Amino acid sequence: GTVVLAYSGGLDTSCILVWLKEQGYDVIAYLANIGQDEDFDAARKKAEKLGAKKVYIEDLRSEFVEEFIWPSVQANAIYEDRYLLGTSIARPCIARRQVQIARQEEAQYVSHGATGKGNDQIRFELTCYALYPEVKIIAPWRIPEFYNRFRGRKDLMEYAEKHGIPVPVTPKAPWSMDANLMHISYESGILENPKNHPPSDLYQMTKSPEDSPNEPDLLEIDFNKGVPVKVTHVKEGRSKHTSLEIFSYLNEIGAKHGVGRIDIVENRFIGMKSRGIYETPGGTILHHAHLDIETFTMDREVRKIKQNLSINFSELIYNGFWYSPECEFVRHCIEKSQENVEGRVQLSVFKGHVYILGRESPKSLYNEELVSMDVQGDYDPCDASGFIKINAVRLREHNRLQRAAHQK
Ligand code: ARG
Ligand code: SIN
Repeated sequence: GTVVLAYSGGLDTSCILVWLKEQGYDVIAYLANIGQDEDFDAARKKAEKLGAKKVYIEDLRSEFVEEFIWPSVQANAIYEDRYLLGTSIARPCIARRQVQIARQEEAQYVSHGATGKGNDQIRFELTCYALYPEVKIIAPWRIPEFYNRFRGRKDLMEYAEKHGIPVPVTPKAPWSMDANLMHISYESGILENPKNHPPSDLYQMTKSPEDSPNEPDLLEIDFNKGVPVKVTHVKEGRSKHTSLEIFSYLNEIGAKHGVGRIDIVENRFIGMKSRGIYETPGGTILHHAHLDIETFTMDREVRKIKQNLSINFSELIYNGFWYSPECEFVRHCIEKSQENVEGRVQLSVFKGHVYILGRESPKSLYNEELVSMDVQGDYDPCDASGFIKINAVRLREHNRLQRAAHQK
């Protein structure tokens, strides 16, 4: 049979490629470009040399931004109050293209290099089953013949040397990384002890706030339907307009000022807690800016319901259910909520922080006259007495009951 392997160019998936061939499969290597720092030409040559029947290198950056990052921004998606889901949203994007290739090539099988203890295996495979129900999945890290043979990096290196797989010359970092346009994540290895501080040279995307410039950068972000459509550097007067340019530019500014670093212990879907370190510079700027323009333009009660949907949405994508009836439903509701989320936010980025400075919008629900301390507006203060008294009915009753109980 033919198998489409999600190939990263690294040691693990290179060994998997050769191992699958040994098991008698024709292997198609598929490498998604979602903005990670990678020599794609070298990876193609490597996969060809290892005997891949065909190599697909797919530039998914724009669709990753427009179809996965933007909906997450609209949702204010955040897992367990802190994680902006950079890996979680990339998996359905990668796997979707993988099954498209599998169908096109009439391959029955897909394969990936995710471990048997993590979230990624779930996200990859739920996406594959949802979009290609008949597919057969080969997850080597869950196959005893594979994981018993490769018990550590040493075994992988030995296998690589024996089978002509180029072994990495630079020593591997003592942790595992996952990088894309949205973020870089670091976990396992020396980070597994949650007490250990991350070494300062771990971060590859952002500068340390300690070494960041002493001058802020002032940005202006224009939103339409909850999505950024333009970003302008106020002093330099330069603007970015396409989705990919906008997001990349926010990454650049965020990275320069050390924005978006977090160190957390989170709950994996599979059941255990895990320690992760993340840097999400552009995503963090957008998170703050979007929250601001959304509250400015959205009805209070709609916002409350939407806030609950955001928690649902975040959990669904963390757990791998991007392609599910419930997630589709939630995505539609969230999209509907964004119809009037439009306007401009001014902010400054400085020393690891995002400071909102002001906002304006043609769809603003803010009424300066109505809220003003100096103008009456279309509002009668006398009405507030009744409003407060009616709200107090319940509180007074509660008090009466408490007193009665004390007196017994
Ligand atoms: N814990 C994060 C998540 O579940 C990051 C996973 C990183 N994945 C990786 N293969 N290193 O989304
Ligand atoms: C992995 O298991 O491949 C990384 C960690 C995760 O998926 O949660």
